[in-house]
Amino acid sequence: MNENATHARDQLERNKLNLGLFGSNCSGGLAVTTVPERWDATWENNQELARMADDAGMEFMLPLGRWKGYGGVTDHNGSNFETLTWATGILASTQNIMAFGTVHVSLFNPVVAAKQMVTADLIGEGRFGINIICGWNNDEFDMLGVDLALHDDRYDQGQEWIDIVTQAWSCPEPFDYDGKFYKVKKTNIYPKPYGGGRPLIVCAGNSDRGREYAARNADMMFTNLRDGFDGVPENTSALRKMAAGYGRKIGVFSNVSVVCRPTKQEAEDYFHYYAVEHADLDAVENMIVGRGVVKPDTTEERLQELRIRAAGGNGALPIIGDPDYVVATMKRLSESGVSALAIGLQNYLEQFPYFRDEVLPRLEHEGLRTK
Ligand SMILES: Cc1cc2nc3c(=O)[nH]c(=O)nc-3n(C[C@H](O)[C@H](O)[C@H](O)COP(=O)(O)O)c2cc1C
Repeated sequence: MNENATHARDQLERNKLNLGLFGSNCSGGLAVTTVPERWDATWENNQELARMADDAGMEFMLPLGRWKGYGGVTDHNGSNFETLTWATGILASTQNIMAFGTVHVSLFNPVVAAKQMVTADLIGEGRFGINIICGWNNDEFDMLGVDLALHDDRYDQGQEWIDIVTQAWSCPEPFDYDGKFYKVKKTNIYPKPYGGGRPLIVCAGNSDRGREYAARNADMMFTNLRDGFDGVPENTSALRKMAAGYGRKIGVFSNVSVVCRPTKQEAEDYFHYYAVEHADLDAVENMIVGRGVVKPDTTEERLQELRIRAAGGNGALPIIGDPDYVVATMKRLSESGVSALAIGLQNYLEQFPYFRDEVLPRLEHEGLRTK
């Protein structure tokens, strides 16, 4: 990885395939479902989960950046913890696991955000990471009274934002920045991040412009394997090449939703129960339409696939099967160049113990993780 992301880098270089839990800060988590056992995102549940994941040797807790629910019967994600304060609480409650803030560029003044992140990083002794979001759902920005700039402008703003944040973290003297979106004068913040390093930087996106932004700025790009396994090796190696063009190294994070049961049939039945029979259909529709993934030429078959993926895990690649199948799939992703998986479980506290006991040892046996 890159200059100065020291502590977080040590954390993520221990294993070939890094693992974290994704989305527990929001009601429903990743699964858009009406089942009674859907995820209840209380602070107590988040803290218990983070401690359990920490004890199991998982690398990170990654929150969804949400401000508003998706409607439907459950108002999916409608109860959601702000992520920088959530990460700070998680870091104070744990020993080794990293916690990320998922930060919307246009909602946070960069100097204030730089200070908030330093606070989290010092409390976590170098275990804080940032997941940068340049913007997505218009209705959320409307709720906050902020204009969501046109697509490429969002990334131009994101570039100025991260330039200011990283300078604020590293510059010992006051600095000025005169950009199109931000003008700051004599900016100087103390304290600096833990141990003279800087937090790990992840950028989430899929587009070419998003990839270019990540290649230039991020230690890891968080990207969705929209088309399953097709093209993953080409996709990850192209991204690495793009980053090398900036003299940088980059890893690839991706999101998966896991249903792991003793048999393939049990896993498939459970997925069908929560993501098909009991999908929160209005919330699913709001999610896929709001993200602009439905185009005039989207076929009915593809639409159905998008709906099931949204209901199953917020659009994440589903991995549904027995422990051997889950491990084989993760191995395949790792061999395709994916360095970290952000995992959704339909109910994290109920399902993580089985994952910990059955999947983690098998991944160790495969040489993808150390004990
Ligand atoms: C894997 C992944 C996770 C994301 N997580 C969030 C999130 O938690 N909150 C959010 O508002 N946007 C999220 N985004 C949206 C992206 O940051 C970005 O705004 C969106 O993908 C549009 O940019 P693009 O056209 O470059 O892909 C996520 C995107 C991806 C690919």
